[in-house]
Amino acid sequence: MRKKIVAGNWKMNKTFQDAEELVSTIAEELDGVDTKCEVVLCPPFPYLEMASDYADESGLQIAAQNVSEYTQGAYTGEVSADMLASIEIGYCIVGHSERRKYFGETNAQLALKVENLLEHAIKPIFCVGELLDERNSNSHFEVVKQQLSEGLFQLNEDEFSEVVVAYEPVWAIGTGVTATSAQAQEMHAYIRQLITEKYGKTVADNTTILYGGSCNAKNAKELFANPDVDGGLIGGASLVAEDFIKIVKSF
Ligand code: PGA
Repeated sequence: MRKKIVAGNWKMNKTFQDAEELVSTIAEELDGVDTKCEVVLCPPFPYLEMASDYADESGLQIAAQNVSEYTQGAYTGEVSADMLASIEIGYCIVGHSERRKYFGETNAQLALKVENLLEHAIKPIFCVGELLDERNSNSHFEVVKQQLSEGLFQLNEDEFSEVVVAYEPVWAIGTGVTATSAQAQEMHAYIRQLITEKYGKTVADNTTILYGGSCNAKNAKELFANPDVDGGLIGGASLVAEDFIKIVKSF
């Protein structure tokens, strides 16, 4: 049975004090709650250790939002997989559309990032998703297929089994326009089909595929009810403890 996950991507938000308040509130509110999913928080780099301290006590998982494609050395401003592993980070987002758009990250670079993470036993949360133009021109399946083929399908079966996929249609991120339940299910089923073709049914059935893009406390239940939607990667709504907890409890 594949794992359900709700992950909160805080992006570049919150001071240290506000971040500590958010993580401590979430940890407190979920204490003793039998969540039907794993809860992952993705704070900015400087807060990872602080968040990990709360996580250790509460069963939350902590993820980084990015990792370097390089392994170590003279790369000012970069953070390596080895560094993340040394503070026991369990997951890392790779290839978020904002990284692709604003920082020009390519599938080839993302493939290196994934490789670095897996070498350090950190699970990549690999993001895929089409632009509005691509959906309107009906090339969304092709775009997602290419992102998967070039970023992930170089992995062998054992490696791929450690990966979480997040489908995030770019037109739905931060826009308040969420994919319909049918659109999400259709793409998730397609992604699972591609994984089946590449790695077989058992691996595909065990792969967690998250939906992201204006998922909130109101629509999470309906989205998560789809057979191929195994949880969410939540941006804006993960910055408010009450909303995020409602989403966690949507299973
Ligand atoms: P959003 O962001 O929930 O604010 O749309 C999702 C994401 O970018 O991961």
